[in-house]
Amino acid sequence: MAKVAVIGLGYVGITTLVGMNKLGHEVIGYDIDQSRTESLSRNDSPIYEEGLELALQSLNSVEKIVFTSQLGELVKFKADFFFVCVPTPQSSDGAADLVFVLQVAKQLSSICPGYSVVVLKSTVPIGSGAKVKQALQRPEVQVVSNPEFLREGSALRDFMNPDLVVVGADSKQVADRVLQLYSNIDSRKISTSIDSALLIKYATNSYLATRLSFVNSLAALCEQTGANLEDVLQGLGSDSRIGSSFLKPGPGWGGSCFPKDTRALLAVASEFSLEFPIIDAALESNTQTMNRVVEIITGLAGGSLEGKVIGVWGLAFKANTDDTRESPSIKIMEALLANGATVRGYDPVAVVTAAQGFHQALTAEEAAKGADVLVILTEWSEFTEIDPSVISSLMVGSAVLDARRIVKNELWKTEFGVFRTLGGE
Ligand code: UGA
Repeated sequence: MAKVAVIGLGYVGITTLVGMNKLGHEVIGYDIDQSRTESLSRNDSPIYEEGLELALQSLNSVEKIVFTSQLGELVKFKADFFFVCVPTPQSSDGAADLVFVLQVAKQLSSICPGYSVVVLKSTVPIGSGAKVKQALQRPEVQVVSNPEFLREGSALRDFMNPDLVVVGADSKQVADRVLQLYSNIDSRKISTSIDSALLIKYATNSYLATRLSFVNSLAALCEQTGANLEDVLQGLGSDSRIGSSFLKPGPGWGGSCFPKDTRALLAVASEFSLEFPIIDAALESNTQTMNRVVEIITGLAGGSLEGKVIGVWGLAFKANTDDTRESPSIKIMEALLANGATVRGYDPVAVVTAAQGFHQALTAEEAAKGADVLVILTEWSEFTEIDPSVISSLMVGSAVLDARRIVKNELWKTEFGVFRTLGGE
């Protein structure tokens, strides 16, 4: 059992803390936001993540304080490992901004024991290891990278069942110390240099984003040519060199990771005077996909959005999360509003701050009421259980776009004048 401190209690931090505790380690979580640590102490999670509230209730700790915003408590805890999980926002040139990570390193400088290891979980660019060491000013304290591959919505499951645990370190000895924390997890474990570990993370996210852009373009092509998308994807995914996961088309990929990490990888390449044209194309293709959704909706609304009411199901960037950061739904709604539409949006958990012309509906039915067009933008399973005849009786128009291909076509097709999916039949 080791003593693990987690700095920064967002999606990654909370999941890391709960996961490390499940693996048998003593944990403490530190965040500068006192309201956050207080609500976590009441087992009240500030974020929505499946199974998290329950996991918080079952935290197993001999220490009285698990969540704190007092540095003094962190000092008293005497951690062996400090997991840095603070945000790395995108700066104006697309690069990841290290300001919070370096602030934490400076704070840790005066409080971390000489035997401790600072573990970078935050996604940071090549060269960050050296910058953190410099900010830390403690040559005897090791700095390593241990990137996370957690998907929002299934973060706890992903933590406990990863495909890979990777630790980037200056020495095999310190890498092994960190890998030892995961000894109860049965997965592939590798140690690399710090920069290689950081690049694995960027490469994985950028590759997956590129793959999705490819699939979304394929969906557009199927729609135009009449080829059957499901068959094409089944064929594609059956090739074991390609595989079948992450092939679902949608209104564009979003979230706090893919858009930021693809741009950050481009920024790293450009720092070394290199281009990365495939990633440029993936980003461009993603913008095109969102624009195409707006065009389709405009067509379904009769060629103009002026004065039209559009019902939107799904505001989060994907199902099972309340996160709306870089959500295609938000970008698409902004375009609809800018073109004169009124938008009635519903999501089972995500809430959007009011924009002019936007109304947050409390139920899926309320969002459909009076709508000229209904659009499904997030793949919540709740939407598959809704009776289309009820929805069609509430709407003014009779056109639906299922941009996630999740509701049962046949029922919806007979109920509505026009039922479209991205990718066609
Ligand atoms: C992503 C990665 O999947 C994680 O491995 C990584 O750890 C995380 O970023 C991170 O860097 O922290 P996440 O952003 O939570 O996880 O979401 P994903 O499930 O990857 O979805 C990203 C976007 O792709 C969403 O908009 C989603 O709707 C879209 N998507 C995903 C599709 O359109 N089709 C798919 O088949 C899969």
